[in-house]
Amino acid sequence: MRVVSLFSGAGGLDLGLKKAGNDIVWANDFDRDAVATYRKNIGHHIAHADIKDVDLNDIPSSEVIVGGFPCQGFSQANMSRAVDDERNQLYKFFLQAVKIKQPPFFIAENVRGILSLGGGEVIKRIVADFKAAGYAVTVSLVNVADYGVPQTRQRVFLIGQRADLGQDTLFILPQKTHGKDGQPQKWVSIKAAIDHYPDPSKPNDYLNHVHSAYKVAYRDFTGHRATDPDKPSPTILARGNGQGGVCAIPHYNGQRRLTIRESATIQTFPEDFEFIGRMNSCYRQIGNAVPVSFAELLGRELRRLEREALGK
Ligand SMILES: C[S@@+](CC[C@H](N)C(=O)[O-])C[C@H]1O[C@@H](n2cnc3c(N)ncnc32)[C@H](O)[C@@H]1O
Repeated sequence: MRVVSLFSGAGGLDLGLKKAGNDIVWANDFDRDAVATYRKNIGHHIAHADIKDVDLNDIPSSEVIVGGFPCQGFSQANMSRAVDDERNQLYKFFLQAVKIKQPPFFIAENVRGILSLGGGEVIKRIVADFKAAGYAVTVSLVNVADYGVPQTRQRVFLIGQRADLGQDTLFILPQKTHGKDGQPQKWVSIKAAIDHYPDPSKPNDYLNHVHSAYKVAYRDFTGHRATDPDKPSPTILARGNGQGGVCAIPHYNGQRRLTIRESATIQTFPEDFEFIGRMNSCYRQIGNAVPVSFAELLGRELRRLEREALGK
């Protein structure tokens, strides 16, 4: 399918959709580094602009609009979240794009906190807004560890289907391939994913194999807990503990934080995908991303629908 991607970031979602054979016709982000990373690794079809300055009428037509609209205002890690957080309003640009362009499908990703924001009122409102725009919406909470990603990461996917495509939900979330209980397969551990990387202090040829000097100290909160080598990684985050910096996960050796490369591998970016920007920016781009391998599964479902629902 032809895909328009809003809030594209470094392009985790886009790369996965592309790997499945879809065509990203236009993308947008206002972060200079994320756009540079995207251009270097995915393509030059990304426009560097604030979505507020984009005339949504000029966006190319497509069969699907995707977007991980910014989630800071929704994040459970952010204790001061509020229903009227200005950052939550950016979703309205996504809604507006869908309203104007009327693609058969849309996919919007967000953090789990969106489900409980405002006592559940925010998600209800979002679903109602899209319904009024002519779409049926399914809301699914996914843990990407259940799809073989070496990371516990719970995210909400809103899948929209234009009402004229019928009452039945056409887009089917991929079947789980892994489970905590070992069914169908055991969750992939962080150690299995990154143990092959050499000590980053020694000369090596890996891209972005450098890490934050932020010291490892175990306190009982996000980013400051010991990492169990035999379990999936904790969620790779785009934000720190409220002090502005990104907080990379401690390596399970307890000696240092994960490198940018290791964090990217846990987000299933390929090893030749190079991140551009200062260290904090690279960690943030990675933490913001949809894991590439999970995005590829979504992309395959789009391909199926292209054949079966849109008859192409
Ligand atoms: C959650 S990230 C999306 C990550 C992406 N889906 C991926 O898989 O890599 C949200 C992105 O929205 C961008 N963003 C935030 N406000 C924006 C705005 N006003 N205009 C354009 N982009 C914006 C941020 O720079 C960030 O890259």
